[in-house]
Amino acid sequence: MPQSKLSIAVIPGDGVGREVTPEGLRVLDAVATRSKASFQRTIFDWGTDYYFQYGRMMPDDAVDQLRSFDAILLGAIGHPDVPDNVTLNGLLLPIRRAFDQFACVRPAKLYPGVSSPLSDKSLNSIDMIIVRENTEGEYAQAGGFVYPNLPQEVAVQTSVFTRGGTERIIRYAFELARRTNRRKKVTSITKSNAQGYSMVLWDRVFLDVAADYPDVDTESLLIDAATLHFVHRPESFDVVVGSNLFGDILSDLSAALTGSLGLAPSANLNPSRSLPSMFEPVHGSAPDIAGKEIVNPLAMIFSVAMMVDFWGLSRESQAIENAVAEVLRSGNSQHLTPDLGGHAKTREVTDAVIDRLLV
Ligand code: NAD
Ligand code: IPM
Ligand code: MN
Repeated sequence: MPQSKLSIAVIPGDGVGREVTPEGLRVLDAVATRSKASFQRTIFDWGTDYYFQYGRMMPDDAVDQLRSFDAILLGAIGHPDVPDNVTLNGLLLPIRRAFDQFACVRPAKLYPGVSSPLSDKSLNSIDMIIVRENTEGEYAQAGGFVYPNLPQEVAVQTSVFTRGGTERIIRYAFELARRTNRRKKVTSITKSNAQGYSMVLWDRVFLDVAADYPDVDTESLLIDAATLHFVHRPESFDVVVGSNLFGDILSDLSAALTGSLGLAPSANLNPSRSLPSMFEPVHGSAPDIAGKEIVNPLAMIFSVAMMVDFWGLSRESQAIENAVAEVLRSGNSQHLTPDLGGHAKTREVTDAVIDRLLV
């Protein structure tokens, strides 16, 4: 590290995933021509079209095919004609688990030039990172149907919270909060008033880990109250750590508070780097706007910035963030998609970013 030659497996996927992924790659190419870094990418045309053809979302040996890459860049998965449990459990979720990408890191920052629906929030007042447990909890996929499709049918879906899994994600959050550019505060999201086993374990582990970080402030909030406080006092959050499902829900909320889901990036990290991590926007395949060339590519472009940063290319990552921040600050409607109040096409936003890219 830093690694100047990265091999990247690219899975554009479905819907707007297929529109934002090429934009992320254009930015990556622009970074390569302006720096010493080089990126070797291999495109995997897996997803719902592949499913229509072969009856599965990706081949049997997909995980083995991906294993040797430094990183995976994913667009989005999901199709209106196929149940989500088939598409997502056929591609995205198994990859997160297979590569033990246990830390899902989702920054939400209000950039100058972007207006928050919370109109009294001043510039830069919202700058938080959601750290979401990404391989177990409510997403463990432990369960089954009894008497399927009969009137007495039963579904059992069991959450799985291990001490090890809970401890490593909470520790990851504390380490992140300690970084120099952060405000050294971790908020834990719980629901131990109702979930008397899993969330009680979560709370105990949080207290245990917090004891190792006396220099970091802590707070524990029930998930329902947390949604309230996200709206009323978003500036008070720095690093927020939650279970798989709570982190999922809060990261769409934090995206909305910071202007648009179209700005929210995400990193599914295996911090050991022994297996590939996966970078993707927080948003999905957005069938309501797919094909209209108006999807905001900035969540994908920020995800690319997180990917190169993870491999030690911090100068390149900062250059991408600065270029995007510059486009946002200008507030020029020719350079912003409709979700941010502009009337640019997807491609024009990327062009504006590349024009401002100084590596
Ligand atoms: P979504 O994130 O696709 O869209 C929610 C809303 O936000 C829509 O109105 C959409 O138009 C808008 N939006 C999303 N991204 C945008 C962008 N970049 N620019 C402008 N507007 C944007 O969520 P959904 O509609 O609930 O789900 C659609 C499909 O995507 C479902 O099949 C769902 O399961 C799947 N999904 C996949 C992922 C993923 O692959 N990581 C994430 C979330 C949802
Ligand atoms: C996300 C998505 C996924 C999740 C879905 C598509 C399974 O909503 O990455 O936020 O819940 O993890
Ligand atoms: Mn989500």
